[in-house]
Amino acid sequence: MEHFNIAIDGPAGAGKSTIAKLAAKRLGFVYVDTGAMYRTMALHFLREGIDPKDETAVGAACAGVDVTITYKDGVQQVLLNGENVSGLIRSEEVGNMASAISGYLPVREKLVELQKELAKRENVIMDGRDIGTCVLPEAPVKIYLTASVSVRAGRRYKELADRGVRADIKEIERDIEERDYRDMHREHSPLMQAEDAILLDSSEMTLEEVVRRIFAAAAERG
Ligand code: C5P
Repeated sequence: MEHFNIAIDGPAGAGKSTIAKLAAKRLGFVYVDTGAMYRTMALHFLREGIDPKDETAVGAACAGVDVTITYKDGVQQVLLNGENVSGLIRSEEVGNMASAISGYLPVREKLVELQKELAKRENVIMDGRDIGTCVLPEAPVKIYLTASVSVRAGRRYKELADRGVRADIKEIERDIEERDYRDMHREHSPLMQAEDAILLDSSEMTLEEVVRRIFAAAAERG
């Protein structure tokens, strides 16, 4: 059976995962967070002490990694060689490593295959950077969700402050700009809006407004 899939792409901090999770819950779809898979690969390379600049070493290390997705109470869990690492992949260190290694083809090929498999099995809302352009080019609904750098940095700052972590907003902005640049200018599957994607700028929109726009698109194209 063909499944109905929704692709959400956009830069870091645009609110993709919050929105995708909420929309998935209301639609009864499975939420697939592809960033978590890149983070899991990154954690493996960090543990192995692999230099992210060494493309050959990263490529060779891909062969020994098994990334599996499972769901516990509807929440995605990622397993790295059988170990549930979902609680270990949210640090800045892992995020930076993920951003550095996500440009390499062997890493992408491995994860894109897994992502396509998941979308074949269920109705999914999948978020990432290349979902509408590479992973699910046939998805009937594609969203490109963005927000200004200052809004995204402000959200990140608040998120950290809520967890009791002090941060420098200017540093966060610089980090976001660097990550955007890397994601948008890499050779393989750079972050870009698919031709048939709906552009939503969440800088001035509430969560509910964004979700409503996604539902409207799903109703129209479903
Ligand atoms: O979305 P998140 O910040 O968790 O993703 C971590 C990194 O993984 C991103 O900075 C990006 O470089 C990479 N990524 C990717 N393609 C995806 C999802 C994430 O290249 N589909």
